[in-house]
Amino acid sequence: MVHADASTFAANVTKEEAYQQVLDQAEGLLFDQRNWVCNLSNVAALLWHAYKSLPSPSNEVNWAGFYTLDLTTPNQLILGPFQGKVACQTIAFSRGVCGAAASTKRTQLVPDVDAFPGHIACDGASRSEIVVPIVVHDRVVAIIDVDCAVPEGFDDVDRAWLEKLAELVGKSCDWP
Ligand code: SME
Repeated sequence: MVHADASTFAANVTKEEAYQQVLDQAEGLLFDQRNWVCNLSNVAALLWHAYKSLPSPSNEVNWAGFYTLDLTTPNQLILGPFQGKVACQTIAFSRGVCGAAASTKRTQLVPDVDAFPGHIACDGASRSEIVVPIVVHDRVVAIIDVDCAVPEGFDDVDRAWLEKLAELVGKSCDWP
């Protein structure tokens, strides 16, 4: 199998099946590779193609990727590998949905970004968002961020699978 086939998702699969494929492919890709840039890049691609293979609202995802800990400034995230439009470069832990996930170490499931105080609109098209922290030895090393162009784009199925993915990614990379 060539590498690109890992991101080929069959039509008509359920969201659970698509996430299972993301997990399985990520496990394979990260098995003998611990570089975080390399690994987060491939996982962002897997997520993007998984969402695009699904019906609405998942196929309305307009951004999927990562922010990592910014070692130059305390309590700040910096843009990591992603798929979608150009995004904010740094985010303080005190700001936005990403900051809330990083500072609380808890997943933020936001059905309506306009109702979330301090939401940062990197792309005005985003209407809902889920952010999952990647915690290694009690330290937030990165967050997974997925935005959707319609409200209520994410539910507890997304939360459960993205949390599994965060655990896999956390233990499979050497973090700076
Ligand atoms: N909306 C996020 C900022 C990151 S972008 O969506 C890619 C937030 O409020 O933290």
